[in-house]
Amino acid sequence: MFDLIVRNGNLPDGREGVDIAIRGGTIAAVERGITAEAGEVIDATGRLVSPPFVDPHFHMDATLSLGLPRMNVSGTLLEGIALWGELRPTLTREALVDRALRYCDLAVSQGLLAIRSHVDTSDPRLVTAEAMIEVRERVKPWIDLQLVAFPQDGYYRAPDGVAALGRALDMGLDVVGGIPHFERTMEEGRLSVEALCRIAADRGLPVDMHCDETDDPLSRHVETLAQQTIRHGLQGRVSGSHLTSMHSMDNYYASKLIPLIAEARMNAIPNPLINILIQGRHDTYPKRRGMTRVRELMEAGVNVSFGHDCVMDPWYSMGSGDMLEVGHMAIHVAHMAGVEDRRRIYEALTVNSARTMGLAGYGIGKGCNGDLVVLQAADPIEALRLKPARLAVIRRGRVIARTAPRISALALEGRPARLDPGLDYRPVLRG
Ligand code: FE2
Repeated sequence: MFDLIVRNGNLPDGREGVDIAIRGGTIAAVERGITAEAGEVIDATGRLVSPPFVDPHFHMDATLSLGLPRMNVSGTLLEGIALWGELRPTLTREALVDRALRYCDLAVSQGLLAIRSHVDTSDPRLVTAEAMIEVRERVKPWIDLQLVAFPQDGYYRAPDGVAALGRALDMGLDVVGGIPHFERTMEEGRLSVEALCRIAADRGLPVDMHCDETDDPLSRHVETLAQQTIRHGLQGRVSGSHLTSMHSMDNYYASKLIPLIAEARMNAIPNPLINILIQGRHDTYPKRRGMTRVRELMEAGVNVSFGHDCVMDPWYSMGSGDMLEVGHMAIHVAHMAGVEDRRRIYEALTVNSARTMGLAGYGIGKGCNGDLVVLQAADPIEALRLKPARLAVIRRGRVIARTAPRISALALEGRPARLDPGLDYRPVLRG
């Protein structure tokens, strides 16, 4: 007797018609034709059954604040930064918690069950850290939330930046952040990377820095980050978020840098929605895309995962908590439209991002957490195309969200009366 069986689903690795049985919050069996009974059975015939989506780069303290205290009229990064500066002194713990919980509801409905959020530590009141720690506890039953101490205004540049970041880590934030390209000089940027990696080594914490989020090809803090990773023995625990300057770098330099990033076993976290919107703003034509070198990093063996970064905040007025929207944009911006490319993009939204966050028990296999998403699409490639309904979202063997399939009723003479976009085109695609 199992608690739950998801029957006859398709797995991301291509296996089809597979049953997944969960008992005591853990996957107990993954095989065809399980005959045992279960408290609940979900028919997933023809549907993709995936491990949950994982967002390794988000800003939970800013989300859903769009329009406060006023709209970003120009839609630019600079006005977004100015707006956040106006909003920050007025933030209250209650409002931050309320918005974050509402975002987490949305995330669950999209099958997004693990999020790493940067938390701005620039305001020494640290109301952001207090609020996000409360949210981390409250959503624990359904979302793994990791919190990064993030000195948005600069570790050295903000008046109280050094002390506030230390206090935020003392409060219990999980990861050491940074923003070296925003420090006053290249030299202070380098020094900030060194100081923050030393803090991470001393405290035994991972590192995740906003690194070189600029079009300046000479912004090379990622090189220092890789070198410090190796120096402090932090291999596998350090992430470089954005890394957009790599798009503009000279190819010869990049050919030296990418193997260094691989040697340091750093994770790369591009954020395609934000970066295609924000980078290249000083260009006339041609305009640069600005996203880091995804294909080249993947081919060098670097763990690449994609972040959503923002949803309805001063910097980004769009977004829906849907990691498939992030992957859809990544395919376009990274020029990764091949069949194998798109499989790798799907992995970047799931297994790669789970690796970035160091999640235990992630995946579909005996002994893994009983966390699954049933999608109204037949396979990962179709999921990226359709961004379909998450029919069922399962956490530790319990269904925590359901969405009705999108089925259209047609009234067209001589044509079918019913259209399921998740099934009806697949035979053509498999040709
Ligand atoms: Fe960010």
